[in-house]
Amino acid sequence: MGEPTVVVCGAKANMFFMSNEFKLVISSWPTSSVELMGKNSIMEKKGIVVKPGLLETFEGVLEGAFSPPFKFPGSKFSRAISARMKVQKFLVEVIREKRKEIEFGRVQNEQGKLDESLLSRLVKAMIRGEVSEDEVVDNVVLLVFAAHDTTSFAIAMTFRMLAQHPTCYSLLLQEHANIMSDKGPDEGLSLEDTKKMKYTWQVARESMRLFPPIFGSFRKAIADIEFDGFTIPKGWKVLWTTYGTHNSPEYFKEPQNFDPSRFEEPVQPYAFIPFGGGPRLCAGYQLAKLNILIFVHYVVTKYNWSLVDHDEPIVMDPLPFPSKGMPIKISPKF
Ligand code: HEM
Repeated sequence: MGEPTVVVCGAKANMFFMSNEFKLVISSWPTSSVELMGKNSIMEKKGIVVKPGLLETFEGVLEGAFSPPFKFPGSKFSRAISARMKVQKFLVEVIREKRKEIEFGRVQNEQGKLDESLLSRLVKAMIRGEVSEDEVVDNVVLLVFAAHDTTSFAIAMTFRMLAQHPTCYSLLLQEHANIMSDKGPDEGLSLEDTKKMKYTWQVARESMRLFPPIFGSFRKAIADIEFDGFTIPKGWKVLWTTYGTHNSPEYFKEPQNFDPSRFEEPVQPYAFIPFGGGPRLCAGYQLAKLNILIFVHYVVTKYNWSLVDHDEPIVMDPLPFPSKGMPIKISPKF
C-alpha cells in the first residue's frame, strides 16, 4: 500500500497489537478504504430499503476499497469513487426524508411499531446535534462495507465445507431436526433456538478458520514500539493477519483438516481471530453470528442443495471470493 509496513504473526503478536489500540497503535486502513468509506466513519474515529441497482453500486464501492488509490480514468479506484458518489447521493436523500418524517412526528415503522432502526437512531442523534449528516452517511457506508462481503463469504464457505464433508452435514442436520422437533409447525425461530446451534457455530467457525473473510487489519504505530527484540518506528504500519495463526499447528492440530469438533475445547486467546480482537473487535460480531446461524437453519431445513463445482477456486482480490460466485443446485424439500 506504499507505506512501510510490518506483518506480524502469532497469538502473542496479535494480543500485543490488538490490545494496545490507542496506547501504542491506532487502527489505520489504506487510503483507498478511508476515501471510499468516508473520513467520518467509526473506522477512522475512536434499515434502509435497497433500491434496484443500489446493491450493485455498493459492490462497486467495495471493489475499490483495497485497490491502489490512483485516480485516473478507468482505474478501479476511480470507478469506486463514482460509485461512492452515487451511494452518497442516495443516502443523503434517505436521511433527509427520514429527518422530515421524524420532525413531523412520524416515529412508527410500517408495522406500526416505534421505529428503532439504526438509520432512525442515527437521524435522531443528528437532529439532537450529536452527529453530522456526513457522519451518518459515512457510517452507513462503513456498515455495508463491513457487513456485506464478510457475512456472505462466511456463509458461502460454511456451505462449501458442509458439501465437502457429508458426515459433518449429517451431524448439523440432526441439530436442526432436534430444534424443529420441539416447535409447532408454523413457529418461527427464537433467540433460544439459536443458542442450541452449538455444532452449527463450530462448523461456521472452522470454515472461517480455513477461509477467513478478512485477511487481517492495519494499525499505525503512534510511538516507537519494542516488540520481541525488534523496534517498529513511530509512523510505520503493522498488519496482523488471520492466516498467521489459523494455519499454524502451534494452535490448531493438523491445521489443514476441516474438523469443527476442535472448537469443543477452548482455543488459545488471540489465535482464532476472524473477527479481530481487543477494543477494535468486529462491531457486528453478534449480528454476523445470528445471520449465519439463521440462514443455515432455513436453508438446511427447507431445501435440498448441492454445489455445482466442488473445487471452485477461491480468488483473492484482495478479499477472498469464489471465482464463479459459487453456484448451487437447490430445490424445496417438501
Ligand atoms: C462473518 C462476518 C464478519 C467478519 C469475519 C468480520 C470481521 C471483522 C474484522 C476482522 C474487523 C477488523 C477488526 C480490526 O481492525 O482489528 C471488523 C471490523 C468491523 N466490523 Fe466486522 N466482520 C463481520 C461482520 C460484520 C457485520 C455484520 C457488521 C455490521 C453490521 C460489522 C461491522 C464492523 C465494524 C463497524 C467494524 C469496525 C470496528 C472498528 O474499527 O472499531 N462486521 N470486522
